[in-house]
Amino acid sequence: MSPQNANTDIQYTFKIFRFDPDVDTAPHYDTFVKSYPSGRTVLDALLNIHETEDDSIAVRYSCRSAVCGSCGMLVNGAPLLACRTQLTSLMGDQVLIEPLPNMAIIKDLVVDMKSFWEAYRRVEPWLHANGDRPENERLQSPSAVTSLDPYVNCILCACCYGSCPVVRFDEQYLGPAAIVKLFRFMQDSRDQRGPQFLERVNNAQGLWACHTIFRCVDACPKDIRPTDTIETLRRKLMVYKIKKMFHLH
Ligand code: SF4
Ligand code: F3S
Repeated sequence: MSPQNANTDIQYTFKIFRFDPDVDTAPHYDTFVKSYPSGRTVLDALLNIHETEDDSIAVRYSCRSAVCGSCGMLVNGAPLLACRTQLTSLMGDQVLIEPLPNMAIIKDLVVDMKSFWEAYRRVEPWLHANGDRPENERLQSPSAVTSLDPYVNCILCACCYGSCPVVRFDEQYLGPAAIVKLFRFMQDSRDQRGPQFLERVNNAQGLWACHTIFRCVDACPKDIRPTDTIETLRRKLMVYKIKKMFHLH
């Protein structure tokens, strides 16, 4: 049981990953013992430690409400959004905080997301609409919008990308988030690019790199299942290839 004071604050021991590549030869961990009432998040604690103990700790955040996708990090080994992870939801009073894996460290908990954004750009994540530009907007039925909603909810936090073992060994792998975004546009009733677009990801660093390890599914704070989108796009691609082979288009 964690020690509690009269205000029912709970005491935690935070072990925070520290590394400044410009200065340090190797990473180390700093430890802080702090008490917080229930309802405080990992990000609340980090910002408080930054304010009261060590203002040199680097952490990336913005909205504090699980919308901007900035504060993905490892908490006790699990990829999480710090802003929506309450301390009381963690098992016990030891809190190990580390940067997301698979990306270079800029400083402490802040990673360089260059490879993540490069993969994202490769799928051309915008609407490929044909025809004249409408006067107002490209309309879509409510049911079509509803079917896209789970994928539109992706906040590009890179928790899935950071947790994927394939990305760890091949930085050229598109990764789950970019494939989710491709799926989102391929399913959009207003997008005209068609299954032939999937030829671009018909390779060992695209759809076929995934080993269906499912870590991305466990990691996603928005309950998106990237593995399912990968499987669906693979099937879509194979149907397209077979139809093309037998001139069934
Ligand atoms: Fe984050 Fe989920 Fe989007 Fe991956 S799919 S970037 S984990 S919201
Ligand atoms: Fe990686 Fe998810 Fe596939 S963890 S291997 S993208 S199922």
